[in-house]
Amino acid sequence: MIEMTDSQALHRTVLLTEAADEVSRAHNGIFIDATFGRGGHSRAVLSRIAPDARLIAFDRDPEAIRAAAAIDDPRFSIVHAPFSEMKEKLAELGVTQVKGILMDIGVSSPQIDEADRGFSFRMDGPLDMRMDTTCGLTAARWLAQASEPDIARVLRDYGEERFAAKIARAICRTREETPIERTAQLAELIARTVPKNKNDSAQHPATRSFQAIRIQVNGELDELKRALSAAGSLLAPDGVLAVISFHSLEDRIVKRFLDAGAHPDKAVDSRIALPADAFAPALWTDLRRIKPSVEECEVNPRARSAVLRTAQRTEALWSEPAADADKRKGGRR
Ligand SMILES: C[S@@+](CC[C@H](N)C(=O)[O-])C[C@H]1O[C@@H](n2cnc3c(N)ncnc32)[C@H](O)[C@@H]1O
Repeated sequence: MIEMTDSQALHRTVLLTEAADEVSRAHNGIFIDATFGRGGHSRAVLSRIAPDARLIAFDRDPEAIRAAAAIDDPRFSIVHAPFSEMKEKLAELGVTQVKGILMDIGVSSPQIDEADRGFSFRMDGPLDMRMDTTCGLTAARWLAQASEPDIARVLRDYGEERFAAKIARAICRTREETPIERTAQLAELIARTVPKNKNDSAQHPATRSFQAIRIQVNGELDELKRALSAAGSLLAPDGVLAVISFHSLEDRIVKRFLDAGAHPDKAVDSRIALPADAFAPALWTDLRRIKPSVEECEVNPRARSAVLRTAQRTEALWSEPAADADKRKGGRR
């Protein structure tokens, strides 16, 4: 599905049918789209759930919130907040349990395609990269303040960049003379720094560094870990978690989180530190891994790197809110 709210804002939803089918399995109750974007998944979920069900969406990008105004459905509402805060924001709405949570993480096409957002090394724009333009440090501010070892660590850990130390050094030398404030300026600096013959020819030399800086600026991995943990305590028994990720760093976090919850008896890989309650016993069952079809990848090359992981919540460590228990037991409690 291609979503268009104005001439620029275009997003082709990945794994649309697969993710919407999985997350709305319960059909009735409250469902969460944690990453509204341009609403492709939200619309598909709304077309599957019951007339008295609810869909509450989240996005941290004010442009996504603006785009959500196009959805005219009394079952739908949206919250402007990072999804790491979904448990608290839902509690403010009186919601303590839900039947499905969908997260289609990463950036939307409009974020990448609009030069002014500063995500793309292909177009010149201010070096911003914040998904939420109302708060936080821009990429330019972060690059101006961070130490050389910190920049190198981010490029290495979040971008798997072989030349992390070299690029960090070049950034720090350059900023002594001139502030780095434009995407083209940073892209050219990286292209000049990375040895020519060692470039991965299929990729722009700045690809990995831009990804790394974006992850740092938006705290993306921490957001994901906190949201997974929140999902574990929000989902009712049999509720479904569906997460689409686009690179191995994120997919590894999702996989390890679900594996650890599904097989608490097995040794857990400790290389990725997850919140302690992520390791609660047997929280998840029916783990599935779904890749986009060959046809989808042909039409939308961005889908090639996508992985959808789903899991169903068990009853373990789940306590039913008293009011719901009363209702279910006909007020016998
Ligand atoms: C890949 S797009 C989602 C596209 C959406 N599924 C659709 O069909 O249009 C990712 C969206 O998630 C939002 N996002 C990413 N990380 C977020 C976070 N931590 N909290 C809230 N929103 C986030 C981005 O702003 C972006 O709009």
